[in-house]
Amino acid sequence: MSPEARREVLAGAVDPDDGPGPARPVDPAASPSEEVEEAGLRPRTLGEFVGQGQLTEHLQIVIEAARRRGQPADHLLFAGPPGLGKTSLAGIVATEMGVGLRVTSGPVLVRPGDLAALLTDLQEGDVLFIDEIHRLHRSVEEVLYPAMEDFKLDILIGKGPTARSLRLDLPRFTLVGATTRTGLVAGPLRDRFGFVGRLDLYGVDDLEAIVTRSAGILGVPMDAGGARHIAARSRGTPRIANRLLRRVRDFVEVRAEGTITAEAAVIGLDVFGVDELGLDKVDRAILDVLCRRFTGRPVGLTTLAQCIGEEPVTVEDAYVPYLLQQGLLQRTTRGRVAAPRAFAHLGLDPVGATLG
Ligand SMILES: Nc1ncnc2c1ncn2[C@@H]1O[C@H](COP(=O)(O)OP(=O)(O)OP(=O)(O)O)[C@@H](O)[C@H]1O
Ligand SMILES: [Mg+2]
Repeated sequence: MSPEARREVLAGAVDPDDGPGPARPVDPAASPSEEVEEAGLRPRTLGEFVGQGQLTEHLQIVIEAARRRGQPADHLLFAGPPGLGKTSLAGIVATEMGVGLRVTSGPVLVRPGDLAALLTDLQEGDVLFIDEIHRLHRSVEEVLYPAMEDFKLDILIGKGPTARSLRLDLPRFTLVGATTRTGLVAGPLRDRFGFVGRLDLYGVDDLEAIVTRSAGILGVPMDAGGARHIAARSRGTPRIANRLLRRVRDFVEVRAEGTITAEAAVIGLDVFGVDELGLDKVDRAILDVLCRRFTGRPVGLTTLAQCIGEEPVTVEDAYVPYLLQQGLLQRTTRGRVAAPRAFAHLGLDPVGATLG
């Protein structure tokens, strides 16, 4: 049977128990040319990957040990806020192991057959990367369990009383999962990963190294002061650091001499609405709602998201972690509240705002 025919049989033979679910559009963020540029900035090896010292050290040991044994690396789960390097690490694992990389994501795998088709198509040792793994359908997740544990695929042929189950051998592979929400990854799935790496927001020194590397790749002249200011306003996030670098590059090309100096970076970032803490319009809108509208009282995530016209998951994943880290926000059992620093940042008097 040809691989295509086999895939079709598998796709049809495995019966989904919860029907097709909603597929999420692929990352709507940057323009096509910026996406290409972004891909060029992605670190390809562990050596190019800046920061996350403990995580990369552990990973290096896991990879090196697997390589010496001549076996695929254990399954790896990377967790952390958006833009910190989870997808990059998946690619790095494949490169360092010298194996192929197959990429998919939780919401795209609607039926168990979708995953079965991918699994049977893997080469020995390949890395299968499942992004947003916390959004896998239950029925798809169940196909993954024996695949991860025993490299077996259970398929059901036929329906009703004549149905029988068949167990296929799969090539040994490394599953790399990424999630912005470890809490939403089902326990049995999490337990099947041999290594769970948590990515934290980056410090300014690491971000400075990242923008300096990116400026080199993009051929943008930049001095150390320029790199420092961009790094300091990047909300601890490499993707944002690279985005701000491109905006400041635009600015200096049009309005300045073409070199990113400290002064040009500050003016350029102000022009694009990024303040000295790196907060953008949405961050400030969140603080504004908490300080002014709710005058420091706790606000639930859904209400907060509605007030600023964003999705709750976007607010929780992309904005809250940095605001918490900066001490602008606090979590309470009744919701998020503005910290005194938030009032100060908006130029408000906490007491006056509470009364007003
Ligand atoms: N440690 C790092 N060193 C250098 N560049 C990095 C690092 N981490 C991330 N980047 C840069 O940031 C960009 C975003 O990283 P990546 O796509 O891997 O994040 P992610 O965690 O997968 O995000 P998401 O959760 O949104 O999928 C990369 O294209 C890369 O240029
Ligand atoms: Mg990613």
